[in-house]
Amino acid sequence: MTPRNIKRRAVSSIKTNWVALASSSELLGKLHYFFLSSAFDREVRSVLAGHQLHQINRNNFEKSNYALRRNIHRLEKGLIMRPRRAVFASDYIQETVNVFVDALGHTNEEESSWAESVLTEYFDVLEQDADDRVESARKTFHENQDRRATHAEYIRTRKPYQYRSHEESWLISSHEFFFDLATQRRSVRWFEDQPVPRSTIDKAIEIAASAPSACNRQPYKYLVFDDPSLVGEIASLPMGVKGYEHNIPALAVLIGKLRAYPFPRDRHVIYIDASLSAMTFVYSLESLGLGTCIINWPDIPELESKMESKLSLGPDERVVMLIAFGFPDKSAYVPSSVKQPLEVLRSYNPGARI
Ligand SMILES: Cc1cc2nc3c(=O)[nH]c(=O)nc-3n(C[C@H](O)[C@H](O)[C@H](O)COP(=O)(O)O)c2cc1C
Repeated sequence: MTPRNIKRRAVSSIKTNWVALASSSELLGKLHYFFLSSAFDREVRSVLAGHQLHQINRNNFEKSNYALRRNIHRLEKGLIMRPRRAVFASDYIQETVNVFVDALGHTNEEESSWAESVLTEYFDVLEQDADDRVESARKTFHENQDRRATHAEYIRTRKPYQYRSHEESWLISSHEFFFDLATQRRSVRWFEDQPVPRSTIDKAIEIAASAPSACNRQPYKYLVFDDPSLVGEIASLPMGVKGYEHNIPALAVLIGKLRAYPFPRDRHVIYIDASLSAMTFVYSLESLGLGTCIINWPDIPELESKMESKLSLGPDERVVMLIAFGFPDKSAYVPSSVKQPLEVLRSYNPGARI
């Protein structure tokens, strides 16, 4: 063995042993990331920037108000509770009405009409004079009646409703359609040299917006590129497209917004919510005749900086993934990508005593 190899082995062995030691102790783990690794630095800064922007967003001036969305969601959950409590949300109803009133004229109409409809329902069903805090909030809500401009139809419809069960809809007979959609979809990496109509992209994003998200916040946005030179610039950044980046007609960069949360405990939710939406986007495009390939965005500081400045991202905005899409080149191949079998993927009641 050459001296160089001996040295390399020794260094590798020290690293492995140190990592084993650091992973066994909270203090050593902290020291490791404080002195020896900057891997989480950007994430920490983004989470902190997210807290600060959450406070600013709370007092609105953006098209969407995450504190309002969360509280309206909580009210809806209270309204559908069985049995429904005579008084609920008294600890946050004033705050919710204040945020709603402040956001009028700033937040998008869908959001404010949803909020207004749910608040109207809330004050309608809650007993009068049962709780001082509710009455104070009710007063603020009614005082601002004139400033609200929501269409009566929205007020009637944007509140909890009886779920339209499967049996009554055509979906019950369409399981095979979904099976075909899911099994036909493969990651497509070769596309026809043909632009994707924006109406098709918009339709897919509207459908993707129907995905579930924590407290219905939807803390993400789609940055779509269909200009060939911009697509080329953005596609040159991630590592996973080497060899086919020149061939991508359109690209969506999915961005998570940490300003949606006041607490670091929720920092992972941007990735979960954005991914649920991304999968819906991918299926929508597939059903519209388009192929897709999700592209990994690793947390590499130099790449992050480049992407941040190219896309003018805010300090709390994180790239979750990229999605390449276009009309599939029918002469090209896709990997078979065999999936794991059921017995590997699932277990029922693990750990239960039988
Ligand atoms: C989070 C994620 C990151 C991915 N990154 C890449 C990538 O960088 N480059 C690529 O060509 N494919 C990428 N893919 C596609 C996967 O390779 C592909 O989904 C997987 O091999 C299964 O194949 P299928 O999508 O055809 O079922 C990624 C997929 C996911 C979900």
